[in-house]
Amino acid sequence: MDEQFWHRKWRNNEIAFHRADANPLLLRHFPALGLGSDARLLLPLCGKTRDIGWLLAQGHEVVGVELSELAVEQLFSELGVTPVITDEGTLRRFETDRLTVFAGNVFDLDRHRLGEVDAVYDRAALVALPEPLRERYAGHLVHLTHAAPQLIVTFEYDQALVMGPPFAVPEAELRRHYGAAYRVACLGRHEVKEGLRGVTPVAEAVWRLERR
Ligand SMILES: C[S@@+](CC[C@H](N)C(=O)[O-])C[C@H]1O[C@@H](n2cnc3c(N)ncnc32)[C@H](O)[C@@H]1O
Repeated sequence: MDEQFWHRKWRNNEIAFHRADANPLLLRHFPALGLGSDARLLLPLCGKTRDIGWLLAQGHEVVGVELSELAVEQLFSELGVTPVITDEGTLRRFETDRLTVFAGNVFDLDRHRLGEVDAVYDRAALVALPEPLRERYAGHLVHLTHAAPQLIVTFEYDQALVMGPPFAVPEAELRRHYGAAYRVACLGRHEVKEGLRGVTPVAEAVWRLERR
């Protein structure tokens, strides 16, 4: 799953992961983060998710990071705003009033560029990465955000039956990555009606991670 895989997906508009509306799981479980009305949230591997528009509409500030510049351009265009664009090493910063998106590799983002965040919302980020990268990603996020609380959506299914992404991330794995830095609580779990690519049943689970 190299960078070219994702660039190709965006170029060919093969973005089945993208939802037409804000994610109902975000709307239902966001209050569990207990944030103030003007919190600053990090959305890693954000694509052009409509969740960003929803968070902005609630009065929050959003920082995203996304490999595909095409996705970032579409995000701003669909929000109807024109960003100021600046190059910062291997990253390109797209910025408007309360939204900053770094186009580039999440592993190139550092604490200084990111600034302080109050929480992380991870939908289809951890599960987008193959196993060897997930451990590195989790450690990187803990470091970047000083273990800011997280809301994470994962998939649970038999990995032997389907190739990711999205990859299955069972509870034991989530705890392995994050258990030292966070108290991990499951907020809900449900079967996805249509299964995964019609091959296997799949459950979506929502987790709240609170700094220890
Ligand atoms: C499954 S999509 C999810 C997008 C978004 N979170 C959503 O819910 O619609 C994963 C996204 O991560 C991006 N991505 C993959 N690897 C990345 C990396 N190392 N750094 C930044 N973005 C990455 C891909 O380009 C893709 O848009």
